Amino acid sequence: MLFNLTKPVLHRMDPETAHGLTLKGLQTGLMPSCAHGQNDARLKTTLWGRTFQNPLGLAAGFDKNAQVITPMLSMGFGFVEVGTVTPKPQDGNPRPRVFRDGSHQAVINRMGFPNDGLDVFRRNIENFLKTTPRPQGVVGINIGMNKGQEEPAVDYCMLVHALGNYADYLTINISSPNTPGLRNLQSRENLLPLLESILNERAKSCASNNPPVLVKLAPDLDDTQLEEVADNLLQSGVDGVILTNTTLARPDFLPESFAKETGGLSGKPLTQKSTQIIRKFYALTEGKLPIIGAGGVSSAQDAYEKIKAGASLVQLYSALVFQGPALVTNIVKELPILLEKDDYSHISKAVGQSA
Ligand SMILES: Cc1cc2nc3c(=O)[nH]c(=O)nc-3n(C[C@H](O)[C@H](O)[C@H](O)COP(=O)(O)O)c2cc1C
Repeated sequence: MLFNLTKPVLHRMDPETAHGLTLKGLQTGLMPSCAHGQNDARLKTTLWGRTFQNPLGLAAGFDKNAQVITPMLSMGFGFVEVGTVTPKPQDGNPRPRVFRDGSHQAVINRMGFPNDGLDVFRRNIENFLKTTPRPQGVVGINIGMNKGQEEPAVDYCMLVHALGNYADYLTINISSPNTPGLRNLQSRENLLPLLESILNERAKSCASNNPPVLVKLAPDLDDTQLEEVADNLLQSGVDGVILTNTTLARPDFLPESFAKETGGLSGKPLTQKSTQIIRKFYALTEGKLPIIGAGGVSSAQDAYEKIKAGASLVQLYSALVFQGPALVTNIVKELPILLEKDDYSHISKAVGQSA
């Protein structure tokens, strides 16, 4: 309701300014969260020993500094992924660096990981963990390297060491298009040594919590690259994968003034592309590596398509910009109806059914 009133104002502003105001509103409680109903038992998902009350999560990038975990969980998300955090604070690219195209419900961003750095992030997470009563929900931490870091493993391992004990899962972000060199970490010669270092660090620093380690990939890998990455990930011993980050592609139907902006495209134009990657990856790995699906989820049907393509959980970000918090409740309410139509007694039964 409140979103409907504020949207015309927010959408006249620079997207990042509007996002900053939204975060402030959420922090101060000015933007009341949606009253979310009971989660349907058919949506409850257990993965990596963690319980998700429903399979819908907030994707990384919305809450880069872990400031609004409580309000986002109260909005109805089953899980929230915070970050990307880097060891040192950094400003990111010059503004403007986020662009909206309302007619296609699309976003382009070239933020470049602006964030307050590890120390502030850790303080915020500690404060969240002290909240009483603590809201139900899983919290993943998405980690990345500082711009200009020539030894990526140093940054990733530092973050695993510092944050691994606070995380329900860790996401290794090697797929944002806005940090030079980051996507090269997806190649075979870089990926396996990096993941080995990260998994060794986990064993050393957070063996008691033992957070599952997930790798987040780009949707722009071609079939050969995807096959290679799938093979590497199975070999590496990581626990799961997030498919996908934003795309460098620019479908023809986008207005030129929008499409010309450099950065990663997300929202509706990404929906099919990311679902296809999920389907291929699920087939390549024979469903052995749990998948979190992301990319243009803007309805229960979109979420369901990703689940049937092989995702055990799904995430969204861009659609929230256009549809507001009611979207979360709607998806969570409608998913059981879609399950019923297909005669599935539980969401897990639908995973991979169209792969
Ligand atoms: C403004 C913006 C900032 C983002 N920042 C991050 C980030 O810091 N780390 C990350 O892994 N993904 C980031 N993403 C990507 C999202 O997490 C998600 O993978 C992608 O946007 C596809 O989902 P969507 O179409 O629902 O937005 C960002 C996306 C947007 C729109």
